[in-house]
Amino acid sequence: TLRCAKALQLTLAVIKPDAVAHPLILEALHQKILKNKFIIVRSKDLIWRRQDSERFYAEHKGRFFYQRLVEFMSSGPMRAYILARENAISQWRELMGPTKVFRARYIAPGTIRALYGLTDTRNTTHGSDSVESAQREIAFFFPEFSVEEWMEQTEPSFR
Ligand code: TYD
Ligand code: MG
Repeated sequence: TLRCAKALQLTLAVIKPDAVAHPLILEALHQKILKNKFIIVRSKDLIWRRQDSERFYAEHKGRFFYQRLVEFMSSGPMRAYILARENAISQWRELMGPTKVFRARYIAPGTIRALYGLTDTRNTTHGSDSVESAQREIAFFFPEFSVEEWMEQTEPSFR
């Protein structure tokens, strides 16, 4: 059989409320995902309750931006994607650019956060930062989704 050398990796990408609020930015980000050859495995629009926000960002509890972050992330609709690609985790984070918008504009102009970010908190997108966090975050947003099942069903078509 032909085997594709590229191994698919999954990541969780989220378009945050600041970007979903602007239809043209939401559409531009969707197009960027497609243009960069990610496979959209699942997507959903959702709104977090404050407790979802607190739970998702528990690792940041106590940081100076935590309350602001938690409030913002439960302030309106978001769009979440499970994306697949070779090196999906680092590729998506590279497209996003650095966390802090002004730093992004300085060192990585052209990245999503540099182009569309409003502030360090309202910074347009989220991306998992490791295989472990991708697994946790995919399960957080898509509890009904089984990575194992998807891999079993999908990988053969890439071999
Ligand atoms: P973090 O995990 O450090 O960044 P990233 O989203 O790039 O993985 O922080 C999570 C979110 O917390 C970040 O996207 C926006 C918010 N945040 C602030 O509002 N101010 C800050 O100084 C930092 C570091 C993060
Ligand atoms: Mg992070």
